Amino acid sequence: MRPRALVVDDEASVCQLLANKLKQEGYDCKICSSVEEALSASEKTSFDVIISDLRLPKLSGLEFLEIARQKFPGTAFLIVTGVDDIRVGIDAMKRGADDYLVKPFQLEAVMVAVGRALERKKLEADLENYRHNLEEMVEQRTAQLQSAMRRIEKTYDETLEALGAALDLRDTETEGHSRRVSRCCLEMAKAMGCTKEQLKQIARGSYLHDIGKIGIPDAILLKPGKLTDEEMMVMQTHARIGYDLVCRIGFLAPAAEIVLTHQERYDGTGYPQGLVGQEIPLGSRIFAVADTLDAMTSDRPYRRALPLSTAQAEITRESQRQFDPEVVRVFLSIPDSVWEDIRREVAGARLFTTTHNPSLASAFPAFAWPLDKRYAPPRLGES
Ligand SMILES: [Fe+2]
Repeated sequence: MRPRALVVDDEASVCQLLANKLKQEGYDCKICSSVEEALSASEKTSFDVIISDLRLPKLSGLEFLEIARQKFPGTAFLIVTGVDDIRVGIDAMKRGADDYLVKPFQLEAVMVAVGRALERKKLEADLENYRHNLEEMVEQRTAQLQSAMRRIEKTYDETLEALGAALDLRDTETEGHSRRVSRCCLEMAKAMGCTKEQLKQIARGSYLHDIGKIGIPDAILLKPGKLTDEEMMVMQTHARIGYDLVCRIGFLAPAAEIVLTHQERYDGTGYPQGLVGQEIPLGSRIFAVADTLDAMTSDRPYRRALPLSTAQAEITRESQRQFDPEVVRVFLSIPDSVWEDIRREVAGARLFTTTHNPSLASAFPAFAWPLDKRYAPPRLGES
């Protein structure tokens, strides 16, 4: 297809001169005597190049340039100036003109300038095309990557489930407890402004907090009566055993610190490291409150579940001692219905999480797991 040129000049002789040369060089050429007429023509036809005089009646060539740059950015624009206006021509280039031509014309030089401007526009278009394709390619690759990540996350969930199942084989008491504690932790962590990544790690860490009990001998783990001091010491190694187990699994490594520190107390009297205050990871300070909340509001072999208000009073009393006061403050600010709903939902199992809140279920796999086994009340002494 022949390139299309638009010549705008109120001097008919100039227009004719240029048009003749352009046609001779293989261009389709349209002539206009004002900017208004040129704009109307440009609306109907897409031009490859516009050659406009600077001085025109009503709107000037510079005003035309400004409009053309916005409306037809792909069209090459050359401004025509008199010898006295060369500085204006240079200024026009700063404003987006591709070149300027000086009257009286040297027609060969005009054609060189037009050819150069068209070549530049073509390069710009190619570059824009390339950029657009690149963006599309990046979008496609990102989608592929996200899909791969989702598949990996699913594998993670299955790994977590396998770990949880392994503990259930040894100690069925942790099942409903771990799920509820994980949910309660998330409510508090969200209220404390934790990031999505932190929430994920807190959900996983709190779910697996007692995984180290896999390494505790049956005689101690399943002992019905009170543990001796020595047995208690063995039992307490579950935090370290769990940490050693979980930190070796890449995607669980960040959650492992909760497994290690879930028995620490704010006042430093916990184990295994006796960490104090902010030395204890936030996830574990949150876990401590969630764990007590769940233990107190669950049935025990020797008593029925205590009312929520009793747990709230006890947690308040232990603020600064067992618990981080800031976590306690956040805990107390959360409506009672949230805790009651969690208890109901976990008891009602997967129905809620996977059908009512699939996005949450996939972000926090601990929610998505089926609860198809019996619930046993938490064990005395240990969480
Ligand atoms: Fe524990």
